[in-house]
Amino acid sequence: MSLQAQFDDTIRRDHRIEPRDWMPEGYRKTLIRQIAQHAHSEIIGMQPEGEWITRAPSLRRKAILLAKVQDEAGHGLYLYSAAETLGADRADLTERLIGGRQKYSSIFNYPTPSFADVGVIGWFVDGAAICNQVPLCRSSYGPYARAMVRICKEESFHQRQGYELLLTMMRGTEAQRSMVQDAVDRWWWPSLMMFGPPDTDSPNTAQSMAWRIKRHTNDELRQRFVDMTVPQAEFLGVTLPDPELRWSAERGCHDFGTPDWAELRRVIDGDGPCNAERIARRRDAHEGGAWVREAASAHAAKRAAQAERSAA
Ligand SMILES: [Fe+2]
Ligand SMILES: [Fe+2]
Repeated sequence: MSLQAQFDDTIRRDHRIEPRDWMPEGYRKTLIRQIAQHAHSEIIGMQPEGEWITRAPSLRRKAILLAKVQDEAGHGLYLYSAAETLGADRADLTERLIGGRQKYSSIFNYPTPSFADVGVIGWFVDGAAICNQVPLCRSSYGPYARAMVRICKEESFHQRQGYELLLTMMRGTEAQRSMVQDAVDRWWWPSLMMFGPPDTDSPNTAQSMAWRIKRHTNDELRQRFVDMTVPQAEFLGVTLPDPELRWSAERGCHDFGTPDWAELRRVIDGDGPCNAERIARRRDAHEGGAWVREAASAHAAKRAAQAERSAA
């Protein structure tokens, strides 16, 4: 069997492609791009909520938020490792991110002016991440699929902590309830945009689905997120800011309005409210950490030289 035929057969039988296997160059490139964007999103995603760690209203909330933000760092690291199994170089991926040559999720370019944003990010953003990522646990590339299993378990903790925080605020004062509603109003549409452009404008989807990297289209996942979130909003007592949102008995799911796709384009192209700030901070952290990387390399070289001497 030719290498291409073996690859096609593995995909058709729903088995996993592993790093040692032959794969088409397009498959490798698509995966590196997707996994790198995903890793960058986890790392940049630490910033909007990280801003609240020093200002969390109680020790309990601080401990929870610290754990959550730290989990996101871990997700980024598993994903950079998965990209390395495809031959990508992690330092190069970081350079691409801070040089603006590789993207991350549009959602992390929005500001977090109130503590209710921490709750709404957990509920919406981690909730949307779960919709996107649960099907990736069955992605055709083994290291990516396996990283997703653990990440998804942690994302469900993130979503619950967000929802629990909002439930607590909704049982509080009028001012707290209006903080929650205000955060819901600001995050709803950007969260729907997290699933990417509509299927009619998503040229790579068909190939990714044929390779079984992706299992559902952007619009299918967006619909799933809306259907999951509506009853949660009712229970919480908040209004989702979409006058067109209603149950469709005919379709068996919710109808909803159209996100502002021009806004998504602008934010992806670098012109969102916080793009410049997010990248500047990431660049500072990378430059500030240069001495740690140098020290670690010098130490590794010293140990290698010692080992060589004692072997001699
Ligand atoms: Fe994450
Ligand atoms: Fe998360």
